[in-house]
Amino acid sequence: MKRILVTGAFGLVGSDLVLELQKKYGQDNIIALGRSTIDDSFQGILEQGDVRDKAAMELLVRKYDISEIYHLAGLLSVGGEKQPDLAWDVNVNGLKNILDIAKENKIKVFWPSSIAAFGPTTPKENVPQHTSLEPSTIYGVSKVTGELLCQYYFKRYGVDVRSLRYPGLNGYKAAPGDGTTEYAIHIFYGLLQNNAYECFLKEDARLPMMYMDDAIKGTIALMEAPSEKISVRTSYNFSAISFTPAELVAEIKKIAPDFQVTYKPDSRQQIAESWPQTIDDSKAREDWGWQEEFDINKMTQALYEGIKAKLAK
Ligand code: SER
Repeated sequence: MKRILVTGAFGLVGSDLVLELQKKYGQDNIIALGRSTIDDSFQGILEQGDVRDKAAMELLVRKYDISEIYHLAGLLSVGGEKQPDLAWDVNVNGLKNILDIAKENKIKVFWPSSIAAFGPTTPKENVPQHTSLEPSTIYGVSKVTGELLCQYYFKRYGVDVRSLRYPGLNGYKAAPGDGTTEYAIHIFYGLLQNNAYECFLKEDARLPMMYMDDAIKGTIALMEAPSEKISVRTSYNFSAISFTPAELVAEIKKIAPDFQVTYKPDSRQQIAESWPQTIDDSKAREDWGWQEEFDINKMTQALYEGIKAKLAK
């Protein structure tokens, strides 16, 4: 039986992924590693620690006889700009620790890259798998570095590490984090708490996005695909929907016609403008059968219901 360690278990992706992995492989086989944002109501095996502490990570791997790691711990784009040194330390040195431990213990690894690996010299539309990667944020720089490190560890040491370039991921189990795309989650809190929201991006800032359930399904599918199907060892382009704040607001207004939205773009708008609008993810579709289920309409309904239920607790 697999024994899986999830780092960043209480972050945006981890909060959904851990539950899904528990359902699939049993609560006793999933070890959730958290640090500052541990959820008190969590049920399962919980460990506290820092991915920058390699010795502590090694001890955990031995204690639980870990066979797979979903290494999610990391800073996002906005958080990274606030603390660039910390972003490098956690995102790059933390990943290197995990890859070294994977090499020594024959562990399979998932690690998320991001659309933030792209930059102003990347085409804006239908970005191909292999393209210019010149990001302008430290978060993006850490993701390009991480992608190359993953490919190096695969080619040089045979580490079975797999990765996706996540678009903006929208879920409701975790509190929204310090990312640029996260306006698409914050907006539902604005709706349900004040019937109003001030958006930090321009109304026409189109970005690649995905509902969390699709992201979790794709992540597990990538990890379960036979090794010979994985032709990309940097990170796969991975996409579902693309929308602007105005298009999301139009969807929300189908549920709440009186919702008031204003726009006050700040430095996050520059980050959004450095990223592409649509992504060509045909490699993921061809190699291991990626297919999303949620369009903007289904995603809006799911986020609305999920955040409403959460706030009612
Ligand atoms: N959601 C991320 C961010 O905005 C993109 O990977 O930082």
